[in-house]
Amino acid sequence: MTKRPKPASTRSPSMLVDLIQLRFLPGSAESDNQQLYRLLRDAILGEELPHGLRLPSSRQLAAELGIARNTVIHVYERLAAEGYVSAGVGRGTFVSDTRPDRIPHPAATRETAPVPASRHASGVSQRGAALMARAGAGERQWGAFMPGVPEVRAFPARTWMRLQNRHWRRPPPDLLSYGVGLGYPPLRAALADYLRSSRGVLCDPEQIVITSGTHTALQLIGLMLCDPGARAWVEDPGYWGVHSVWRANGIETVPVPVDDEGLDVDRGEGRPRLVFVSPSHQYPLGSVMSLARRRQLLAYASHHGAWIVEDDYDSEFRYGRPPLPSLQGLDTDGRVLYLGTFSKVMFPGLRLSYMVVPAPLVDAFRVGLSEVYRGGQSLTQAVLADFIVDGHFVSHIRRMRNLYAARREALLSAIATGFGDSLPIHDGSAGLHLVLGLPGRDDRAIARDALGHGIITRALSRYYRAPASSASGLLLGYSHVDEDEISRHFATLAGCIADAPG
Ligand SMILES: Cc1ncc(COP(=O)(O)O)c(C=O)c1O
Repeated sequence: MTKRPKPASTRSPSMLVDLIQLRFLPGSAESDNQQLYRLLRDAILGEELPHGLRLPSSRQLAAELGIARNTVIHVYERLAAEGYVSAGVGRGTFVSDTRPDRIPHPAATRETAPVPASRHASGVSQRGAALMARAGAGERQWGAFMPGVPEVRAFPARTWMRLQNRHWRRPPPDLLSYGVGLGYPPLRAALADYLRSSRGVLCDPEQIVITSGTHTALQLIGLMLCDPGARAWVEDPGYWGVHSVWRANGIETVPVPVDDEGLDVDRGEGRPRLVFVSPSHQYPLGSVMSLARRRQLLAYASHHGAWIVEDDYDSEFRYGRPPLPSLQGLDTDGRVLYLGTFSKVMFPGLRLSYMVVPAPLVDAFRVGLSEVYRGGQSLTQAVLADFIVDGHFVSHIRRMRNLYAARREALLSAIATGFGDSLPIHDGSAGLHLVLGLPGRDDRAIARDALGHGIITRALSRYYRAPASSASGLLLGYSHVDEDEISRHFATLAGCIADAPG
């Protein structure tokens, strides 16, 4: 029996436009038709679009996405034919609550226990569905002003190729087999030297764990240090990936407000097992955690037996002031797990990162790493070790620091040209992006509009989990945008900001 869909009075079609616009890639290899169909179907199956939600008119959605109206009509018709939406003349189109894969099998309904209401329609687990509902990664990872992307075009590819060829000429079989231990030992030794001298990290090479990106490190930490139901304090605003990974591990992430001194320890609720901080360059606002707060947090962790996860993701890039040494270097009680990544200093597609764990945890992480991930990329790790030992790593960082400093200046001057000093800027004179504050404006609507003009930004409000404290602004990555293109792209963005009601 087909139920009539109820219009969802509290939801608006603009939420859908928001979601689809963020994911739609005009001009991609997939046709507009197929892409829109897939995005809408997946969002319905993922319950991101609740049943009863009214879809925007085909005219509106076509205009927002810059595609032909016939394409939208065709997609709506196909979704209706397949049961994902229902439509009536003059009534509009609504997300259906009788989607084909939700209709229970008659035999199953009689004899088996009912599927919990929150179980995802297509058989995805509850935690999988929750992950889908709050997914944070964008569909586009390159273009002005995508935050957090280094200038990959300036990577010394020839040097890398030469080092790589050296290893591939006669590759040792053990480097082509499964990885063993915590990573390629010479890479761990080279990293320990580098971290000691440049970041004040106190460690032996044995404490270094090589991981395939920060998310893998977070996953391993969640797995080895927390049981389901454990609590983690996470900076608010903060990095969306922490919530995604830890929540998928059954960890309750609790937002803790950040001020000019970093995470406000006094405002954390409950007893955390983990505390996630980015003390050298708070993500995304850029503040540096004060020494007093660092001491307070370390004392708290020692007293309550909590683990601090220090994310030092881009502190190599400071413009002006020298960086404060790591929080890990102040820790006398072995409470800090220090995370670093090669994504920002080399290139994100390398998928190599590392963590420094307190000595008593080394065995546990070795077993966790090899049992859950097996390990590999040993030859790439060997090339990277040479890249560091031969001095290319430090000189590449130095060159990129100068390049990014000039690009940051170009963006600051474009902002000054457009808005004088009427808008607040947060960046802590460091990193690959800055945040342009937009008090009283709808940052998500502006980001959507900008995307329609080919400019990628991220709305600051999306980084808050506690909506009451949410602020409005845009994250603008400048590191990978040519200096002489910055003012032109910013002028386009400034037009979107000026057009927005506020
Ligand atoms: C705050 C923060 N930490 C870490 C990372 C790096 O993650 P990965 O090592 O997976 O590239 C990012 C990437 O954008 C980030 O924004």
